Amino acid sequence: MRITRREFLAAAGAGAAAFIVGAVVGRTAFPKEKEVIKPGPTETVTATTTETATVTQTQTQVQLVEKKYPRVKIANISELNTGQPVFKEYIGHRIVVIKLGEEAVNGVGPEKDVVAFSMLCTHMGGFLIFDSNTKTLVCPLHFSQFDPAKGGQPVIGHATEYLPQVILEYDEATGDIYAVGFTALVYGRYDNLQGVKA
Ligand code: FES
Repeated sequence: MRITRREFLAAAGAGAAAFIVGAVVGRTAFPKEKEVIKPGPTETVTATTTETATVTQTQTQVQLVEKKYPRVKIANISELNTGQPVFKEYIGHRIVVIKLGEEAVNGVGPEKDVVAFSMLCTHMGGFLIFDSNTKTLVCPLHFSQFDPAKGGQPVIGHATEYLPQVILEYDEATGDIYAVGFTALVYGRYDNLQGVKA
């Protein structure tokens, strides 16, 4: 049997229509399995509350007590020989008193040549000795030298700070020499007046 072109197209169209109808019907008749949304892991949220505490501070009032260097007689001019140091103590500090034979910075006495210093080296606290040849105070530990005529200026060595000089007063009537203070903090001390009562 011979099929015309028109019959062929009609039959093809009918077939396509039947397929579409079948698909729609089939989809309705056999619905897909529903998608199930599974719940994720449960999150726990913790709320933090910060409490602000009020702290009350009690202030202790510090009373400042003024301490003064005492005036202490340490020598008389009659007992001093030029170039020969004498060793004394002033408010717990070991000091050396020297009559230099030449006018010195802060020197007292008729020739303004009597000076006194802490005996502790400003580098690491070595005990100083007086060298009459160089007229300097010399540290035997690392050989720093200080010039007593120039207010204890470091001349050579590790020490970089002046030697603390004892401030002196001279009584012309009696020849007495008094110590009345220091020009600087003595090596190893937080306070030169430590232990001195106000
Ligand atoms: S302690 Fe005197 S120079 Fe070092």
